[in-house]
Amino acid sequence: MAEERSTFLLDETQVPTQWYNVVADLPEPPPPPLHPGTHQPVGPEDLAPLFPMALIEQEVTTERWIDIPGGVLDVYRIWRPSPLVRARRLEKLLDTPAKIFFKYEGVSPAGSHKPNTAVPQAWYNHAEGITRLTTETGAGQWGTSLAFATAQYGMECEVWQVRSSYDQKPARRTMMEIYGATLHPSPSDLTEAGRGILAADPDSPGSLGIAISEAVEAAVAREDTRYALGSVLNHVLLHQTVIGEEALRQMEMAEVQPDVLVGCTGGGSNFGGLVFPFLREKLAGRMDPTIRCVEPAAAPSLTRGEYRYDFGDTVGLTPLMKMHTLGHGFIPDPIHAGGLRYHGMAPLVSHVYEQGYAEAESIGQLECFRAALMFARTQGIVPAPEPTHAIAAAIREAERCKETGESKVILTALCGHGHLDMGAYEAYLAGTMTDLGLSDEDLRTALDAVPTL
Ligand SMILES: Cc1ncc(COP(=O)(O)O)c(C=O)c1O
Repeated sequence: MAEERSTFLLDETQVPTQWYNVVADLPEPPPPPLHPGTHQPVGPEDLAPLFPMALIEQEVTTERWIDIPGGVLDVYRIWRPSPLVRARRLEKLLDTPAKIFFKYEGVSPAGSHKPNTAVPQAWYNHAEGITRLTTETGAGQWGTSLAFATAQYGMECEVWQVRSSYDQKPARRTMMEIYGATLHPSPSDLTEAGRGILAADPDSPGSLGIAISEAVEAAVAREDTRYALGSVLNHVLLHQTVIGEEALRQMEMAEVQPDVLVGCTGGGSNFGGLVFPFLREKLAGRMDPTIRCVEPAAAPSLTRGEYRYDFGDTVGLTPLMKMHTLGHGFIPDPIHAGGLRYHGMAPLVSHVYEQGYAEAESIGQLECFRAALMFARTQGIVPAPEPTHAIAAAIREAERCKETGESKVILTALCGHGHLDMGAYEAYLAGTMTDLGLSDEDLRTALDAVPTL
């Protein structure tokens, strides 16, 4: 009986064969990206040095469903469908009437949701004759995912890994090299962008924004090379909707509907991937969950940033995107959730938030790791530092249910495991981890540099 079960598994034949595009169902379309020079919407030719045409089309499409190519499905089947689990032992520890479900993406080869988009991005590039991809990585999860994906199609992969993560996570470096990728700490002296940052601050811990600038610069320099982004863009969130489509079916198996969806938001891709299929159901009036973004207190783009056109990278090489931003020059403190150290938020998540379909809260890292230990000691899985934010928010909600006596159904994305993030757990257990906030003054300075249109 669904009432007694904890794990809800789909068969290999039930891997979704289409991605879902939420733009088709939003009452208002999201504002388009703009060319930084002309301030006009960017056209395909502006993006062609960076991305293959198939992905540019996915970036702007208003079609509701996009077929997943067979060559992508073959690779998805290595780990998909992923499990949906009811966290009964955590519920018991919390003594809450709430029901907590998590969709576990840590079963992928890289250990997170990131291969859901790395694989199609590599596939479409390969199909258009591209032989080399460049990218950035913060947590190391995305770089590992792209390294794995390019290995599937015999392509080269070059990764700029944010300096603080490069130093904290040598095992991630090795994993990328196992898959055949070439690694550089960012900022590096290999690009103009990196050299500029190093000249201003030789000890820069780096940031996702800086690493993006370096990878973009390296991609446009060579005809055989394109750039792959692990989050933020519409096509990335599109690919991640396999998470939510599977979860919809699995919640049906569990004979429940979510009352609350919570997901951590760095650039917004695991959140969008889980939530957008449920938002479709909400917009159609078939369910009415509260949808909540959870971000780190050190990089609170939704809760403290401004909704404006800004660059996706630090140096200003990308198109201008309408998004919640802390300012493209903002370099978040080196918190342990490296994948959440980003100044902006996906334009689609920002738009959904502005339209009032989602709410947001920010949580400091100490509360997140406290929550992660509760989770690990009951459910057994050691979460990646990023989804500890989602777990902390789910626990907050479950504790509120304990007070009110409500038995809400909470669904969250456990978007990765933390097996290669032991440095973060060591710091927490040793008591050396601190909460890193963001002063109003630093925020003001960073926002002052956002272009005025
Ligand atoms: C495990 C994990 N979760 C979450 C994120 C944040 O990215 P996004 O908000 O796009 O899911 C990252 C980014 O690197 C990650 O590695």
